[in-house]
Amino acid sequence: MKLARFSRIGFILAAAGSAVGLGNIWKFPYIAGEYGGGAFVLVYLITVVLIGFSIMIAEMLIGYLGRKDTVTSFEELAPKNSGMWKYAGLQSLAGLFVMIYYSVVIGWIFNYIVTSLSFLPATVQEAESTFNAMLHTDIATQLFYHTLAFIWITYVLTKGIKGGIEKMNMVLMPALMLILLGMFTYATTLDAFGQAFEFMFSPDWSKIDSNAFVVAVGHAFFTLSLGMGAIMTYSASMEKGSNLVTNAFWVVFLDTVIAIVAGLMLFTFLYQYGAGPAKGPGLVFISLPAAFFEMGIIGNIFAVLFFIALAFAGLTSSVSLVEPMVQYFIDRFKWSRLKASLLMGLFFYLIGIIALLSNIDSYREALTWGEKNFFDWVDYVTAAIMLPMGGLVMAVFVGFVMQKQRVEAIMKPQLGFAFEAWYFSLRYITPVAMFVVMLSLLGILE
Ligand code: PHE
Repeated sequence: MKLARFSRIGFILAAAGSAVGLGNIWKFPYIAGEYGGGAFVLVYLITVVLIGFSIMIAEMLIGYLGRKDTVTSFEELAPKNSGMWKYAGLQSLAGLFVMIYYSVVIGWIFNYIVTSLSFLPATVQEAESTFNAMLHTDIATQLFYHTLAFIWITYVLTKGIKGGIEKMNMVLMPALMLILLGMFTYATTLDAFGQAFEFMFSPDWSKIDSNAFVVAVGHAFFTLSLGMGAIMTYSASMEKGSNLVTNAFWVVFLDTVIAIVAGLMLFTFLYQYGAGPAKGPGLVFISLPAAFFEMGIIGNIFAVLFFIALAFAGLTSSVSLVEPMVQYFIDRFKWSRLKASLLMGLFFYLIGIIALLSNIDSYREALTWGEKNFFDWVDYVTAAIMLPMGGLVMAVFVGFVMQKQRVEAIMKPQLGFAFEAWYFSLRYITPVAMFVVMLSLLGILE
């Protein structure tokens, strides 16, 4: 079947749309806060440049040359043992698993868009009890918005690469950037901006331990959408003759700039109006609404705009999390796009309900194993095991399995003298880093 191709700008926006997600605006600021700011940010930036950028190019290369779903691409590019290598493509399943909780979080964001119109909590305590009431007791609200997220995402997927994914990204990504830029500009006029800047960029090395290091590396992967075949699947629809290095550069650049801009803006608001750089996943749902309250009416407007931007970021990432499996069933099982999208959508939707219920007081115990409930397990297994594994497999595949001439033929003209450095990074730096991250996250290395 002939694939519909992205336009050049369409590809960059779609891949950036995948990368810029809840990871940038929800996760990055709170983990940067947790690990003390500057030094953590620096480790994350170094990882993005040294490892993230290399794997981004590798993942694009597999998709670009394979031209099919991830399983077929691995199968076709492996010079031998293709029957075994095709299973590497099943890393795409990780995206569906991430969606199990991602869709629930997008549901919370939808809810906050609506409620922030008329209500903001006056104190952090009030904000906390509002958030916890939703999270631990309110099934109906969460289910309603989770359903809405499912319908939106599935609908876009049924429309395909051009008419669905590209079209949505061409609208939502510029809108997201505009909203953030507007709010960021306002933040730069506030006194606390300097404090936020200092917090993000002056490294305090005493705060960095091996754990912070591992979290920074893991986050660099998550935020760049690497290791799940999302970028690979989009790259299968890249225009022939595209420059992978420039494309990868734009995606990495936009993702990083947006994380930094969002972080600076949030910390400015929190210093100026709130309790300083709060910690934990509740940052945008708890500390931030309370800070917006202090701004008066402009706070309501900002809150609504902020949650809209966050929803846009989440939705554009979501389609890229599901599309690899949709493409897989279309290519390998000849399913129609409608059937593939609907069934993949139903998969994350229905299991997502279990994740949602696992946060509800009366179900929590039944859905908790060990220290984590189902929701946290899904997050943990995908981030700690599947992502680093996927990254490792891709680096090894391009670095060792594919014939060097084949890789060189495409990448040497684009990378020039940097080719050998890139190849070295894939062969040695990345695998070692990934392995260490995985062991540490699993608690084997302390
Ligand atoms: N990069 C997205 C984020 O930052 C998450 C994601 C991971 C999307 C992997 C696609 C694939 O939220």
